[in-house]
Amino acid sequence: MKKEDISIVILAAGKGSRMKSPKAKVLHSISGKPMLYHIIKASKELSNDISVVVAHQKEAVIEQMSAFFDDINFVVQDAENFPGTGGAMMGVNPKNEKVLVLNGDMPLITPNALQGFLDTNADVIMSIFDLENPSGYGRVIIQEDEVQYIVEQKDANEAELKTTTVNAGIYAFSKAVIEKYIPQLSNDNAQSEYYLTDVVAMAKADNLHIAPLLVDEEYFKGVNSKKDLSDSEIIMQDRIKTKWMEAGVIMQLPSTIYIEESVAFEGECIVENGCRITGETLIHNSHIKSSSVVEDSIVKNSDVGPLAHLRPATFIEDTHIGNFVEVKKSSLKGVKAGHLSYIGDAQVDEGTNIGAGTITCNYDGIKKYKTIIGKNVFIGSDTQLVAPVTIKDDVMIAAGTTVTSGVIESGNLVLSRTKMRLIKDFYYKFFKKQ
Ligand code: UD1
Ligand code: CA
Repeated sequence: MKKEDISIVILAAGKGSRMKSPKAKVLHSISGKPMLYHIIKASKELSNDISVVVAHQKEAVIEQMSAFFDDINFVVQDAENFPGTGGAMMGVNPKNEKVLVLNGDMPLITPNALQGFLDTNADVIMSIFDLENPSGYGRVIIQEDEVQYIVEQKDANEAELKTTTVNAGIYAFSKAVIEKYIPQLSNDNAQSEYYLTDVVAMAKADNLHIAPLLVDEEYFKGVNSKKDLSDSEIIMQDRIKTKWMEAGVIMQLPSTIYIEESVAFEGECIVENGCRITGETLIHNSHIKSSSVVEDSIVKNSDVGPLAHLRPATFIEDTHIGNFVEVKKSSLKGVKAGHLSYIGDAQVDEGTNIGAGTITCNYDGIKKYKTIIGKNVFIGSDTQLVAPVTIKDDVMIAAGTTVTSGVIESGNLVLSRTKMRLIKDFYYKFFKKQ
C-alpha cells in the first residue's frame, strides 16, 4: 500500500491514571525519547497524514512533539464531554481511505509490525493476541470463527473475563466505517466512556467484514503502569543494542548497558558492562570501559573509564580518560587525563598530560569561565586551574599548584607551594612512644 492511501490516528489524550504520575503517560520516556515520539516516528514511514489526538496536558504533548516533527495534525479531544477512545476519534478527519488507529502508549510498534494491517483487506481489521494473564485488556469474543464484539474488563461478565484472546488496541478501519459509526457511539457502560471498541459490534451487526489480525506482544505491548514502562524499556534496549552489535560494536554483558536511541557508533567500538550512553552521542573506534556515563558527547579514537563521566558537549579525540574523571563542555585532543579530575569548559591540546586530581575551577558562583591549555603541557597532580586561564604550549605546572594568573607563557614552570617543614622526632614525642 502506498503512503497516499493511509491515514494514521494516534490516540494520546488519556490521563493514564494507572501510571500514578503528574506527567502525561505518552510523555514518559523509553530509551531517551517520549513514548509518543517512537510511535510517530514509526507512523511517518507509513503515512503522510498523521493525526495525534490530545487533551490531557495537551500543551506539553504538542510542545514536545513539535520539537521533533513539524507536520503532525494535533486534534484536541473534548475529553470532558466525550471521554474514552471513541470520544478521541470524534474530532479526527482522516484524508485517506484506510485509517490506522494506534495507541499513544505502545512504544514498541514498528513499521514492519504494522504491515499486516496494510496487507489485509476488510472494513475493520483489529489486532488480537492471546495472553495467559489478560488482565487490563478488552476481551475479544469470537464465535464461529468470527469476531462478534469486544468487551472491556470492567464491563465483562465471568464467562467473558475467562477469554484469553485480547484486543491489542490497534485497528485499521475504512474511512467509511469511521464516518458512519463513531457518531453513533454511546457511553452506556461501566466507565461512562465512549469506547472505540464498540465500533466492532456495530459493524458486525451490519454484516461488514471484520478481520482479526494475530499480532506479537513484543511489538504491541501497551504501557499502562510504571512496571509496563520498564518491561517495554527492556525490549527497546534489546533492539537498540542488537542493532549496534550487528553493526560491529562489541558489548560485554549487554543486559547491564543502557544506550539511548539517539546514540551512534562508528568503526570498532567496545562498550563494557554497566555503561550508560545517552543523547546525541557519537562513539567512533573507541573503548568505553565499565560503569562509565557518556552524555551528548563525541568520542573518537579514545578510551574512557572505568567509572568516568563525560557530560554534555564533550569532544575527545585520541585521548585517554581514566577512572573518576569528569569532563564537561570541553574539547580534548591527544590528551591523557588518567585519574580523578574535573575538566569543565576547557580546551586542551595535543600531547598534554593532566595529572591526578587536577581541577578546573570554572565557576565563581555566578559565571562560568574557560580554561585553555596548549600542546605538550605537563600538569602535575593536584593542580587547580582557576579560570579564566590560558596555559600556552610547553608549560610545566608543579604538583599542588594553584594557577591564578590569566596567561602562562610558553617555556615556564609554574609552582605555588608553601615551603615544606621537617620537625625531627615529632611523631614519637606526640604519641609518647619513646
Ligand atoms: C484500550 C481498549 C482495550 C484494549 C487496550 C489495549 C478501549 C475502550 N479499550 O483499553 O480493549 O485491550 O486498549 O491496550 O478502547 N485515550 C484518548 N482519549 C481518551 C482515553 C484514552 O486519547 O479519552 C488514548 C490514551 O491516551 C491511550 C489510548 O487511547 O493512548 C488507550 O487508552 P487506555 O486508557 O490506555 O485504554 P485501555 O484501557 O488500555
Ligand atoms: Ca492502554
